[in-house]
Amino acid sequence: MEDLDLGTVAWPPAPIRTERLVLRGSRECDRAAFVDLLSSPEVHTYLGGARPRAQVERELPGAPEDRPGTFVAELDGAMVGLVLLRRATGHRRPAATGRLDLGYLFLPRAWGRGYAAEACAAALAWLAGALPGEAVVLTTQSANTASMRLAAKLGFTEVERFQAWDAEQWLGIRPPTPGA
Ligand SMILES: CC(C)(COP(=O)(O)OP(=O)(O)OC[C@H]1O[C@@H](n2cnc3c(N)ncnc32)[C@H](O)[C@@H]1OP(=O)(O)O)[C@@H](O)C(=O)NCCC(=O)NCCS
Repeated sequence: MEDLDLGTVAWPPAPIRTERLVLRGSRECDRAAFVDLLSSPEVHTYLGGARPRAQVERELPGAPEDRPGTFVAELDGAMVGLVLLRRATGHRRPAATGRLDLGYLFLPRAWGRGYAAEACAAALAWLAGALPGEAVVLTTQSANTASMRLAAKLGFTEVERFQAWDAEQWLGIRPPTPGA
């Protein structure tokens, strides 16, 4: 997957405030949370397993790269998760190829409070304004029940299920936001 193809849209956007969170580009102060997130076995249960913490520490640049389409979700001044919007150029399913792809990873201590839903809804609303008329796809393991619930809550519906990475995957799509 490549960066979000933003065309003329500037990145990062001005920070987006939701009821409880701020969505913004990544900053140097996020590094420790990035390491926690990327090396957490719990977070990677359905993502093929986490990399060892020492490896993440070694490979992560001093400041996490502020990549277009990578939103940091901040709660009370600290990063609690990531919302990712990427152009799925090399997706293995034709229905998803070339479309924008949503991903989300939150620190376990922030699960079960609706933060992921709040952050993703805000990122999708931003996208509807920045790049109107784009459908968004999402791939998740069907066994990942928290992720499946979140996808449904955000308005994704099933395109197909397929076998990959030793598990059944669910491909969902969300039509463009009406009027956007
Ligand atoms: C997928 C993931 C982001 C979901 O996180 P989550 O916290 O369960 O998701 P939500 O933000 O939708 O929160 C949902 C829960 O918060 C509860 N909640 C508590 N307070 C709430 C509030 N004020 N508003 C909304 N929901 C609230 C809801 O009841 C809901 O619980 P339920 O699902 O048991 O009914 C998280 O499990 C994760 O980071 N997993 C690892 C990464 C991953 O697998 N990503 C998927 C592949 S892209």
